[in-house]
Amino acid sequence: MNKISVAILAAGFGTRMKSSKAKVVHRAGGLTLIENAVRTALGVAAPEDVVVVVGHQAEQVRAAVGHLGVRFVEQAEQKGTGHALLCCRQALEASGGLVVVTYGDGPLLQKQTLQALVNHHEDGVGATLMTTHLSDPTGYGRIVRDTDGEVAAIIEQKAASEDVLAIREVNPGIYCFDGKRLWEYLAQLRPNPAVNELYLTDVVELLRENGYRVVPFHVEDATEVLGVNTRVELAEADRVLRLRKVREAMLDGVTIEKPETVTIDQDVAIGVDTMIEPFTQLLGATRVGKECRIGTGVILRDTILEDNVHIDSYTVIGLSHIGESASIGPFARLRGENTVGAGAHIGNFVELKKTKFGAGSKAGHLAYMGDSEIGDNVNVGAGAITANYDGVSKHVTRIGKGSFIGSNSTLVAPIEVGEGSFIAAGSTVTVSVPNDALAIGRSRQELKPGWPSSRKGKTK
Ligand code: UD1
Ligand code: CA
Repeated sequence: MNKISVAILAAGFGTRMKSSKAKVVHRAGGLTLIENAVRTALGVAAPEDVVVVVGHQAEQVRAAVGHLGVRFVEQAEQKGTGHALLCCRQALEASGGLVVVTYGDGPLLQKQTLQALVNHHEDGVGATLMTTHLSDPTGYGRIVRDTDGEVAAIIEQKAASEDVLAIREVNPGIYCFDGKRLWEYLAQLRPNPAVNELYLTDVVELLRENGYRVVPFHVEDATEVLGVNTRVELAEADRVLRLRKVREAMLDGVTIEKPETVTIDQDVAIGVDTMIEPFTQLLGATRVGKECRIGTGVILRDTILEDNVHIDSYTVIGLSHIGESASIGPFARLRGENTVGAGAHIGNFVELKKTKFGAGSKAGHLAYMGDSEIGDNVNVGAGAITANYDGVSKHVTRIGKGSFIGSNSTLVAPIEVGEGSFIAAGSTVTVSVPNDALAIGRSRQELKPGWPSSRKGKTK
């Protein structure tokens, strides 16, 4: 087995994005373009054998994929694709083996396709390069084949004759080189006279002149090798990646209605027999158990749903853990750092923040629970709130198991309500309540019989 290194070229300007951000830190399929490219590279090489060539807005690019353990080399001036690869020589030459080259702005290439390119490469061959056919090849280098069907040359659009321009087989820029030969001939490249850049594509002819074969590896599905140059292409890449992910989920046993409207990030895992309605978004590190139901318009970010959870329409949840068979929504908002116990119910227009909500507890309507610990089997009435903020600091509310929090009551934190206690509707509770006690904190009602009619009499 040959050792495999990957060089990812990502130093270019990306002018056509019209962005103040580096092109490759724009996102498709929930990941930056460069992270998509690096993840694909990691399908064939170890992190320390992947080198990203950075230049334009290098810091942004490093920050986007530094966590993946890959290495970086700097190309201070963008002097062409050949020069970009030459910048990797020091980092990669000692590893020997094969050198695979891809682009940072090609997020659609899949691991298995890159692996297939490597598998296609035979010992003794100078290079194996991917090719594909495009109905509109404008802008791409054209593949000129020899009589044996091998690659004789890659001719750039600018330098191409009428005959060559008519060729629809193009160079997507994905190569597998024999490392030893690559470094030897890359060092011999001369600037292409038309633009005074080192063209990586010119290595093909050098290899051939020195008796090495350059073998094409044709891929049928051109979408895999499409690069992103504009935001229109960015949206198209995003669409392809999204469809791939929902397709994968469906094949793994998840029902998705109108999958073209559903957004699922790459790392999201979903259990079998879960049903997902249209226009939902499952983002980040979200994990969904088996037999869950997720209603239309739901957004889950970095959230874990255990099995059989029902999230009803238009609920938004961030960074929370939802226990088995709980039901939430419609129109609920769990802002972050919440734990909802098994079988609990959170209904419409309820908001939770940094709250532990016990198993079997219920908050059916219009409540706000913040910075609170709510025991099991508590009933939170409509309109009940924790007043957790005094204008300076946040304070904690604790509610013991089996308590009943009456409608429209205000629990002024810091405060504790014991187990099995009862807060009367409309109370403002400022003093902690022991176990098994009733707290009423509201003014006593007065009754004045006949008052309305006597008042009418006066105004006539
Ligand atoms: C290149 C190929 C062309 C191919 C096309 C596919 C060459 C000479 N031509 O052309 O045959 O059809 O890609 O997209 O290689 N980059 C650097 N440093 C540089 C120049 C480029 O890192 O100095 C990076 C860019 O960030 C980009 C990639 O290399 O990711 C391709 O560069 P680009 O200038 O877009 O090459 P093309 O002219 O499109
Ligand atoms: Ca390009």
